[in-house]
Amino acid sequence: MPKRIEQKEEVITGAEDSQHYGETHGKHGELQYRALLKDIKALNLSGHYLEVGAGPGTLATMIAEHNPSVSITAVDLSPDMVSVAKEHIKEKNLQDRIQCVIGDVNDAAVMKGLGKFDLVYSAFSLHHWKDPESSIRNLFNAVRANGVLYVYDLKRVWWLYFLPLNSGFIESIRASYMPNEIGGFFQKLGINNHKIATLFPFFMQSVIAWK
Ligand SMILES: C[S@@+](CC[C@H](N)C(=O)[O-])C[C@H]1O[C@@H](n2cnc3c(N)ncnc32)[C@H](O)[C@@H]1O
Repeated sequence: MPKRIEQKEEVITGAEDSQHYGETHGKHGELQYRALLKDIKALNLSGHYLEVGAGPGTLATMIAEHNPSVSITAVDLSPDMVSVAKEHIKEKNLQDRIQCVIGDVNDAAVMKGLGKFDLVYSAFSLHHWKDPESSIRNLFNAVRANGVLYVYDLKRVWWLYFLPLNSGFIESIRASYMPNEIGGFFQKLGINNHKIATLFPFFMQSVIAWK
């Protein structure tokens, strides 16, 4: 399998770029989250959710709409993304149920300060994290007893890796992890009760870890 190439940009900064990401990303609607939404529904967890790397808040609002009994804390490293998310959440009139926070998943103190959650989840963000192992530790620590950690991200498939393009999507594929690499992070952390699945259209994957 080709070597992982770290993505140049860790975060999308700048009000305009963040706004643009929110608009273009929102256009794909629920399609890009199909498997995640199905899995989260099947978990049937109520209470308080934590989303990490929440970006423009598209997914947080979808999950809040699908699950009227949950409240969500949505964290992102980029203050500009958090501003876009706040606007989007206000437009959807969900500001009473979704709280936005600026924070780094790699910062143990910040993550600890957020409290404990019934479900901690993340989409399309893992491949950006500088230290995935310690970030996963922080996320799992934020899961309440009997709660779940759910991570959804791209997978480094060779048939997209070698496309001679420099689009953000291909760069993200090159920066993403293989299932055995992700499994290695969880094993090193002693999180044995986990399941990794490759998802249609095969450059997607999920990890579910139970506490
Ligand atoms: C590709 S975007 C995905 C956004 C959103 N989850 C979605 O599905 O559209 C990756 C997001 O992860 C955030 N991010 C990257 N590194 C992070 C970190 N260390 N802690 C928190 N968020 C991070 C970025 O700022 C960006 O908003």
